[in-house]
Amino acid sequence: MVYYCGNPIGTIAANDLSSSTILNYDQVFIRDFIPSGIAFLLKGEYDIVRNFILHTLQLQSWEKTMDCYSPGQGLMPASFKVRTVPLDGDDSATEDVLDPDFGEAAIGRVAPVDSGLWWIILLRAYGKCSGDLSVQERVDVQTGIKMILKLCLADGFDMFPTLLVTDGSCMIDRRMGIHGHPLEIQALFYSALLCGREMLAQEDGSADLMRALNNRLVALSFHIREYYWIDMKKLNEIYRYKTEEYSYDAVNKFNIYPDQIPPWLVQFMPDRGGYLIGNLQPAHMDFRFFSLGNLWSIVSCLATLDQSHAILDLIEAKWAELVADMPFKICYPALEGQEWRIITGSDPKNTPWSYHNGGSWPTLLWQLTVACIKMNRPEIAEKAVKLAERRISGDKWPEYYDTKQGRFIGKQSRLFQTWSIAGYLVAKLLLANPNAAKILVNEEDSELVNTFSSMISAKPRRNRGRKVLKRSFIV
Ligand code: GLC
Repeated sequence: MVYYCGNPIGTIAANDLSSSTILNYDQVFIRDFIPSGIAFLLKGEYDIVRNFILHTLQLQSWEKTMDCYSPGQGLMPASFKVRTVPLDGDDSATEDVLDPDFGEAAIGRVAPVDSGLWWIILLRAYGKCSGDLSVQERVDVQTGIKMILKLCLADGFDMFPTLLVTDGSCMIDRRMGIHGHPLEIQALFYSALLCGREMLAQEDGSADLMRALNNRLVALSFHIREYYWIDMKKLNEIYRYKTEEYSYDAVNKFNIYPDQIPPWLVQFMPDRGGYLIGNLQPAHMDFRFFSLGNLWSIVSCLATLDQSHAILDLIEAKWAELVADMPFKICYPALEGQEWRIITGSDPKNTPWSYHNGGSWPTLLWQLTVACIKMNRPEIAEKAVKLAERRISGDKWPEYYDTKQGRFIGKQSRLFQTWSIAGYLVAKLLLANPNAAKILVNEEDSELVNTFSSMISAKPRRNRGRKVLKRSFIV
């Protein structure tokens, strides 16, 4: 536990006394704290989460981007620590100061795009669980929500409704070839937009933000559901794609060359089931399966109901690949050989089937559990929890496991990693009380469904102008 002025405000990433290099694992990471925070909420310990929310709010960058060195207004740090410093002019007294890291000290200098999105998700969960809406109604908290959302909704050069980010801007915080529009960020973005919309006070000044937010929600869900989704049928379509199509009616909109379909995928894709691919760029589909993005697309309703079930079908069908001896593979498959050299930059921590490159992360149990409970299929999560229970405590709660089977404790894995423990606890607490998962889940928005289905039936594009919608959305 980390204390600030005597009050608990977060948990450190790991408490591995056996490790000689602490690096930054003695800090409070925003993304790592989320399962701890949820566990505290489920146990009725609301104050810690409240402290966390309000103190991290102060860390949010308030500066305007003046030059390329200052973070954009609304950015949340990846992590922070509490420093105790001597009080000016008084040698005997000290004061605590909060020291945020926006990526300027992180390995690889990665910008944490996910932090602010998780912060919004936790804030909503806090309100739903404790019933205390006074936190989200505070003026400074409302400003905080708006700043995060505005930063994400800002116009740029991008042609897609998905958020354009650099490599390493999420849980995978090292180079793994996920720059562009990685699924994990899109799922968290969608979730934060929905949670933000729920919490934002209706006032005169917020109409523009609401409009932008609604437009983005529709465009984002359409884009992901249509273009990120693959299953047997879609794969076969891609296999037969024509290329170099010009104009609005193109079927192969992103000019994907069928030769890009990797041989492993032909084996991997089950007859029943499907998933959202890792990334989509012009002439490039990253077909790797990224777990967190897929699971959170279920939780946030970014995936349709059918797609959500199909993702769980795929997890069941590919249990040996995705779960094996320890839940849950962070992504599948691993990059090997020349691909590993080029894409990770020969990263020795991300060797095949280790760490971010196909390693197994127990913390993902909690997101798996929320997704399974939402789809009324808790038995899948129960099975995964039972499997983890065989080893995880005896192994001292490792950060991650290695090998294709997930049989070894990770080469450079920390022990007593907080979010491994918290992820497991949240999974157990939710399975015992599935109703509590509601604090995290977003339900399908009926207006969005209507818009979405009108858009599908309004294809091709020249029909787009038909006045079939109650409200107009720009996609
Ligand atoms: C690793 C993980 C990152 C996590 C951090 C602290 O760098 O990749 O997701 O936040 O450790 O545990």
